[in-house]
Amino acid sequence: MTDTTQHKHETVTSALLARDAVHRSGLWEPDVVYVRGDGALLYDAEGREYIDCMAGIAVASVGHANPRLARAVAEQAERLIVCPQNLGNDTRTAFVDRLFEHVRPPLQRVFFCNSGSEANEAALKWARAATGRRRFVAAKRGFSGRTLGVLPMTWEPKYREPFGPYGMEVTFVRYNDADELRAVVDESVAAVLLEPVQGEGGIHPAEPGYLEAAREVSADVGAMLVFDEIQCGVGRTGTFLASEAYGVAPDMATLAKGLAGGVPIGALLMTESVAAGMPRGGHGSTFGGNPLASAAGLAVLDEIDERALMPRARSLGDRLMAGLRDVGGERVREVRGRGLMIGMELKEKAAPVIAALRRAGVLTIAGGATVIRFLPPLVIDEGQVDAVIGRVADVLRS
Ligand SMILES: Cc1ncc(COP(=O)(O)O)c(C=O)c1O
Repeated sequence: MTDTTQHKHETVTSALLARDAVHRSGLWEPDVVYVRGDGALLYDAEGREYIDCMAGIAVASVGHANPRLARAVAEQAERLIVCPQNLGNDTRTAFVDRLFEHVRPPLQRVFFCNSGSEANEAALKWARAATGRRRFVAAKRGFSGRTLGVLPMTWEPKYREPFGPYGMEVTFVRYNDADELRAVVDESVAAVLLEPVQGEGGIHPAEPGYLEAAREVSADVGAMLVFDEIQCGVGRTGTFLASEAYGVAPDMATLAKGLAGGVPIGALLMTESVAAGMPRGGHGSTFGGNPLASAAGLAVLDEIDERALMPRARSLGDRLMAGLRDVGGERVREVRGRGLMIGMELKEKAAPVIAALRRAGVLTIAGGATVIRFLPPLVIDEGQVDAVIGRVADVLRS
């Protein structure tokens, strides 16, 4: 890039950000403008290229500008966009058929909505309907969403506390501590909600035996076990649901993020008996299950299967994890994760390292104060994984 074109582009970026600043909510202050993507790569308004290990927080599962996904959405838009869930729709039916080729019994029913928070809210509501109880158990470091219905289940005090008190009772337990679960889950509990791999909390996979214990403890007292698979589901950890690898079946599971590759979607999966607990018309969503999201979901499942993205998540996840572990060094406390859901815990604040990585052309995101999360599209290739490892090594050495 010549000096003149560089200057012109910088002007484009500053102008866009200045316009953006006039009306934005004030929650964030972006300083880069992204304009284009291609697989695991993103490009900013200055033409700079980034390897995207954030994927819109585990959303761009099949990569940016995925041709099959783009075609499916465009074709559906030309045919039919609007068709709510109380009306039948051919594309939705095709998507549901394919979804339940991946989701195993006893999960047999699905309610569609438009985001992760909505899917978790639906789970809480179905749990209340199915049990007639009102108390919930959630995990410390867990993240369930930020809408008022699920905020009481989100651990991080700075998100939760300013908006209380809440109309529901939630007990937080230490994640991976089966004894604590046994101590607090009793006949008053409607549901226990757990992420099989905690995401926002810093990438903490369930330890062997923990989800099994949660299953047993919940079943013993008639409480629902809900797995929040919003971040870890849809193949990211190498199996369609992360909980499959543990061999534990919940009463409900929630999906969102990667399920439609970027088109807004949320899904509550549940057993026959849980579904039967909600009266007809007891819940709903105007946009849930719309044909556009269904077409996108169908394309995502086709991509996952035909390009073998789940085994790929395992092998490339192993490669990335091994590489990051080798980087090691005195600034790194631990590298952990499953598949392409990896956290590098530092002995220092993650934010400056994340900023330096971005300057080096790698996008990552924090998980808590000291963890760098790596959640790339499942289509990332070996060369890109190796480049990420190399740039992390350079940044940590600098
Ligand atoms: C595990 C988990 N649950 C729920 C949510 C909330 O999803 P959404 O932002 O789509 O409402 C998130 C989002 O990061 C998440 O990671």
